[in-house]
Amino acid sequence: MILVTGGAGFIGANFVLDWLALHDEPVINLDKLTYAGNPETLQSLQGNPLHTLVQGDIGDVALVSQLLKTHQPRAVINFAAESHVDRSIHGPGEFIQTNIVGTFNLLESVRSYWQSLPDEPAKQAASSGATATSAMPTSAMPGKLTKASFRFLHVSTDEVYGSLAKDDPAFTERNHIEPNSPYSASKAASDHLVRAWHHTYGLPVLTTNCSNNYGPYHFPEKLIPLLIVNALAGKPLPVYGDGQQIRDWLFVKDHCSAIRRVLEAGRLGETYNVGGWNEKANLDIVHTVCALLDELRPRTDGKPYQDQITFVTDRPGHDRRYAIDARKLESELGWRPTETFETGIRKTVQWYLDNPEWVAHVQSGAYRDWVQKQYT
Ligand code: NAD
Ligand code: TYD
Repeated sequence: MILVTGGAGFIGANFVLDWLALHDEPVINLDKLTYAGNPETLQSLQGNPLHTLVQGDIGDVALVSQLLKTHQPRAVINFAAESHVDRSIHGPGEFIQTNIVGTFNLLESVRSYWQSLPDEPAKQAASSGATATSAMPTSAMPGKLTKASFRFLHVSTDEVYGSLAKDDPAFTERNHIEPNSPYSASKAASDHLVRAWHHTYGLPVLTTNCSNNYGPYHFPEKLIPLLIVNALAGKPLPVYGDGQQIRDWLFVKDHCSAIRRVLEAGRLGETYNVGGWNEKANLDIVHTVCALLDELRPRTDGKPYQDQITFVTDRPGHDRRYAIDARKLESELGWRPTETFETGIRKTVQWYLDNPEWVAHVQSGAYRDWVQKQYT
């Protein structure tokens, strides 16, 4: 049994779907179902006894404690967060509440549960877990859930490292934490809390810091799905500032495989950067998406989609460049992404063309009705 938080969101849902396609280990999925949580994404799991969606807040100590006590998960994987930089600029309160206070409450619930787990048999005992640094592959775990076999994996972002200049080397795990937006500051704070819960209390934690994801089920407020959806609707394709900001893109399923690998073999208390060495300027992304749509779903008037590009006012404090150095994850844990940007973006555009209903429900807000019908 694993407990996933935020598993009705973009990455969490992809993670849950992939997990249950690969394992027969059950998943408890705790999600507040904010605007970003869409149970329709998990529709294929309806009736699957291995998946239980619970609507609730990671900050609800009573609920989380009850879930932990009842289901006795061997791992908690924390995806739940407010995740959109622009929203964090317009209203940072929810970001502080969920990403910082919520993570704090979750850590406290998990700590209390973890302390109730049995100790290791004498020869495997680590005094508190705080000093344990060796990998514990889950495949090699004893059947019995113990303090040492438990894991708390915190899913975070490369944005905690701040912004790079054009010629700076990519972020390694040793970079300074220099967040610039309310979103990245709240995620950095949560990363610090997770680290402290390991060093102070011995909680067996792992943290991943991943670059920008893209792929199926991405909420169309983020750049790539927004471009696809707006292009098809004949709307403007908004490019902030000069469009020369650089992001490092990773197909969501490769992020999910990295999380599984870190969960399986990551060293306790360590952070792992996750990225696919795919730095692209925003304007290049826009042109790539337009070219794919020109090929796969040409405009009825025969004109190119790039005619819809509109330069708009830049985001305040807009980070110029992110780039991930993923060598630690690659060399220590042997992880590799399976998609190049070219294969991943083609699959993504095709997925949005093949799933107009999912998009229409998100755009119309109908997925909220679906939440009401199915889960309340
Ligand atoms: P998302 O916004 O699509 O999904 C977040 C999910 O968390 C939603 O289902 C939402 O309902 C849920 N949620 C929000 N507040 C909650 C709360 N208080 N309690 C329980 N559930 C709550 O986000 P995403 O893009 O899937 O990101 C998932 C995680 O990965 C986040 O922690 C984010 O910081 C991190 N991350 C995202 C990216 C990216 O490119 N999207 C990159 C690196 C890291
Ligand atoms: P976004 O998808 O919001 O992710 P993040 O801000 O977490 O990197 O934005 C990706 C990049 O695209 C970022 O540099 C901002 C830019 N952007 C636009 O130019 N236009 C848009 O409409 C959006 C949503 C983003």
